[in-house]
Amino acid sequence: MFFHALTALAIASGLAGSASGVAVSKRQAITTLSASQVSSFKPYTFFAGAAYCNPSLTLTWTCGAKCQGNAGFQPIASGGNGGNEQFWYVGFDPALDTVIVAHQGTNTSNILALLTDTDFSLRPLNSTLFPGISSDVEVHDGFADSQERSSADVLCAVETGLSQHNTTSVTVVGHSLGAALALLDSVFLPLHLPSNTTVTTITYGMPRIGNQAFADYVDAHLHVTHVNNKEDPVPIEPGRFLGFHHPAGEVHIQDSGAWDACPGQDNTSDLCTVGDVPNIFDSDESDHDGPYDGVTLGSC
Ligand SMILES: *[C@@H]1O[C@H](CO)[C@@H](O)[C@H](O)[C@H]1NC(C)=O
Ligand SMILES: *[C@@H]1O[C@H](CO)[C@@H](O)[C@H](O)[C@H]1NC(C)=O
Ligand SMILES: *[C@@H]1O[C@H](CO)[C@@H](O)[C@H](O)[C@H]1NC(C)=O
Ligand SMILES: *[C@@H]1O[C@H](CO)[C@@H](O)[C@H](O)[C@H]1NC(C)=O
Ligand SMILES: *[C@@H]1O[C@H](CO)[C@@H](O)[C@H](O)[C@H]1NC(C)=O
Repeated sequence: MFFHALTALAIASGLAGSASGVAVSKRQAITTLSASQVSSFKPYTFFAGAAYCNPSLTLTWTCGAKCQGNAGFQPIASGGNGGNEQFWYVGFDPALDTVIVAHQGTNTSNILALLTDTDFSLRPLNSTLFPGISSDVEVHDGFADSQERSSADVLCAVETGLSQHNTTSVTVVGHSLGAALALLDSVFLPLHLPSNTTVTTITYGMPRIGNQAFADYVDAHLHVTHVNNKEDPVPIEPGRFLGFHHPAGEVHIQDSGAWDACPGQDNTSDLCTVGDVPNIFDSDESDHDGPYDGVTLGSC
């Protein structure tokens, strides 16, 4: 299972540890994931779904089907209020040998209202929380404010997980707004963790979060796969014309149900989201919550 997950992620993100000739040639073509590669995402999809559950339920891992999807998970901490701080939880998964960080998203109408509200701006990351990152790297201020609220508590729990379980792997997941928070946490965490730590990011229905310098920073430093379902409008917002860009690592679920790995940033092929969903009128809001290989996100 773990092997397949890594293979799928390496293909999807084009960020395999060493750039072998095989990896390079795969990176240039749109490739359809195998059935086992698709199913290797399933644990992470359940983790992203469980983030919608009340922190009291994720702390005891008693949230029902979304928790049962990863029955051996060992929670460490949870928090958030579902209002100005999305729910989150951190724990360790023995089967995957990784510390999991998960952030709650929001419902489709709410995220679209947030994304199409022009009352936001791109701003640099807080230099105390993100030491050493150029001020040219700019992100959506609403997402940045939200990530800052949980950052200290999340970091503390991740440090606990890494030392308690003697692992170097952290996997950050989220859907919708939770995907934006997951990506920002994936930039934040390595700046404060030992250099032997590997942070992997798996998100669903992720909006654009930052400018070109942000997307380039992510591609140079992280291992990101962002899964987009069919004609979901959220991944095409905020628009590129406003200066926003996605990092590489898109996996686009076709109407046929095939999962295709799309190379590059904002790939304009009609097999990928930007080409398939040229504007909001060609989108279908009901695709935002999935299902992602049978798992519907957006509620506990
Ligand atoms: C979506 O979330 C917002 C904010 O939490 C809430 O006010 C609204 O009622 C929700 N809408 C639906 C359809 O659940
Ligand atoms: C940056 O984050 C630190 C630590 O949370 C906080 O004390 C400071 O006020 C923040 N700076 C700005 C400009 O928001
Ligand atoms: C922790 O893992 C490292 C690397 O795999 C290993 O060398 C070390 O012996 C382990 N420590 C403990 C206490 O298990
Ligand atoms: C990773 O590095 C930290 C800090 O140097 C060290 O304490 C920890 O044991 C290392 N973990 C493993 C699994 O080797
Ligand atoms: C999109 O994918 C095609 C493969 O079909 C590739 O040739 C092209 O370079 C990619 N576009 C971008 C912007 O990366």
